Amino acid sequence: MAEAPLLELRGVCKSFGAARVLADVSVALRPGERLAVIGPNGAGKTTLINLITGLFSCDSGTILFRERDITKWPAHRRLRLGMARSFQKLSLFDGMTVAENIRQSVLRYHGVHAQFWRRLANFAAIDAETARVAALMGLAAVADQPVATLPYGLRRRLDIALVLAQRPALMILDEPAAGLSAAETRELVAVLKAAAGDFTLMLVEHDMDVVRAVAERVLVLDYGRVLAAGTPAEMSAHPQVRQVYLGEAA
Ligand SMILES: Nc1ncnc2c1ncn2[C@@H]1O[C@H](COP(=O)(O)OP(=O)(O)O)[C@@H](O)[C@H]1O
Ligand SMILES: [Mg+2]
Repeated sequence: MAEAPLLELRGVCKSFGAARVLADVSVALRPGERLAVIGPNGAGKTTLINLITGLFSCDSGTILFRERDITKWPAHRRLRLGMARSFQKLSLFDGMTVAENIRQSVLRYHGVHAQFWRRLANFAAIDAETARVAALMGLAAVADQPVATLPYGLRRRLDIALVLAQRPALMILDEPAAGLSAAETRELVAVLKAAAGDFTLMLVEHDMDVVRAVAERVLVLDYGRVLAAGTPAEMSAHPQVRQVYLGEAA
């Protein structure tokens, strides 16, 4: 029998006032799968993430996570059940070091999981977890550097490290390669691929090279509707998908 999806959206709709932003979106992620969500600016990608993580509520439709109906759950309960996200805008403490930033996120995780925190009220364990996450994101060498001194590519990776420190079963990244140079993007892809396996990934991404390198499956949104879904190769060859992207470029 097929394994139950980790995350499943069924007929999700969302409007802001008179503007319909998402219409009848359905998608499922298997445990361990890496799904990319692509689509032109304003297609509703970030809104989709906001609905999954509970920042906004759906007008209609159902969201299942770990076989529970979380449609009406507040964000903090969803986090506790094992999802964590990054935002398009970085959320770092510039005055602190890389390690201090990661430690904050580790502490927040243990604060959320209060029982765990009591057992782990032990700074060595927190240090070890901080080091583990820094190493996973390729940040060990800069652990003691102030964030303000880091190049942008490393700041982006630190932002992902803060998500990883939440030990999410489902990690959701919103445009992790935005603003990166080609070299920084390649490094990000390498780090993400090396860390994958620890989590199921949903990423919003414009860079098709990143999508091809990281994702196994792609969901294409256009004006809030699912235009197509399939492998990266299928989507690259899909006439309507190409048209939407060419339209955007033109
Ligand atoms: N909080 C909000 N209030 C009103 N409109 C919003 C809000 N968030 C997003 N929108 C609108 O929804 C549409 C989709 O936005 P968004 O999900 O951010 O798109 P994407 O991430 O694909 O670029 C846009 O037209 C945007 O202006
Ligand atoms: Mg967006």
